[in-house]
Amino acid sequence: MPSYARQGSVPHKRHIQFRRPDGGLYAEELFSTKGFESVYSLLYHLHPPTATLDVRPWKRRAASFAANEPLRNRHLKSASLRLQGGDPIESRTPLLGNDDVVIAVADALAPMEYFYRNTGGDELLFIHRGSGVVETQFGELAYRAHDYVLIPTGTVFRVLPSSPTRLLVYQCNGAVTIPRKYRNEFGQLEEHAPYYERDFRAPVLKAPIAEQGEYEVRLTNGGRDAIYVVQNHPFDVVGWDGYCYPYAFNLDEFAPITGKLHQPPPAHATFEAPGAAFCAFVPRLFDYHPLAIPVPYNHSSVDCDEVLYYVSGNFMSRRGVEEGSFTLHAAGAPHGPQPGAVEQSLGKTSTDEIAVMVDTFKPLSLTEAALQCEDPEYFRSWVEDGSSLRSG
Ligand SMILES: [Fe+2]
Repeated sequence: MPSYARQGSVPHKRHIQFRRPDGGLYAEELFSTKGFESVYSLLYHLHPPTATLDVRPWKRRAASFAANEPLRNRHLKSASLRLQGGDPIESRTPLLGNDDVVIAVADALAPMEYFYRNTGGDELLFIHRGSGVVETQFGELAYRAHDYVLIPTGTVFRVLPSSPTRLLVYQCNGAVTIPRKYRNEFGQLEEHAPYYERDFRAPVLKAPIAEQGEYEVRLTNGGRDAIYVVQNHPFDVVGWDGYCYPYAFNLDEFAPITGKLHQPPPAHATFEAPGAAFCAFVPRLFDYHPLAIPVPYNHSSVDCDEVLYYVSGNFMSRRGVEEGSFTLHAAGAPHGPQPGAVEQSLGKTSTDEIAVMVDTFKPLSLTEAALQCEDPEYFRSWVEDGSSLRSG
């Protein structure tokens, strides 16, 4: 929810008669969250969005999760996974998850020939590679590498890649929001925030699609799935306004907060969701104290699981990781720079790394796909004796 937005044609007051050129009424839709008590938008359709012709089962491959047991730090080399490439929904491969968030990777190669709607919570997409368009009833969002695309719960959308798209999907159990600490009493981003309202890209509303027929909308809500066949094209909106709509944010626009000494991950926070905090690590200058140590200190995040996804650059503090790696630093398991990394970092003035992180406050479980791409020796990678380390 960056700020109020308005696109297309809307009547001068809400909830009044608003007529089409042919004299018929547009169909107003309230798109609200937390019942009627949080952010919302009002959309005006050519036809009511309620005309459902059929509801059918959507039989999906269900991922099964196993506890991180024995509890340890993990390294998942997702680049080595043979993902079922396909459309951006069917190709999703969950790797980690709990009740609050499911983290999946996807290779989106083909356009979606149906619409998708998750009414169980917001979806946060991170585009690792590729470009294309996310079409929604609010309009189109062009995406490119290193975009976050935030899709509010209930949004009807489809993804049309224009080039093969590798993306990370965070399916959340609630709203993905901008951290409270960045917002003033009126919700505006404060001066100290690492981004500004102007950095967020709203969808661009296109001409409404008037046609009627049979349109497939695949619906998911907390593990319950269905295929809706609806009579009216979902993108028949002539105008909307409000505070709830999808938007994109590119990491190039993130202005990292740096300091005289090491800044902890919350200084790099991007978004938050129930039970989850998101951060981004982008190219930046290192700390400027003459005796500063650029890499992080050793620590155990005793009350959260940390999941870092490595996008590009030289990951100085983390031996063996590669593009597409995930590290899961489990609650209570100590971690930090690997042997030699502190000394190697001394005197370095900047980093070109790009990585995105989510901390979860409930333990994460792993799927079979995660175990398939795990480097099982990772938890030993802090041992001084190089003979116990895998290469890299
Ligand atoms: Fe950590």
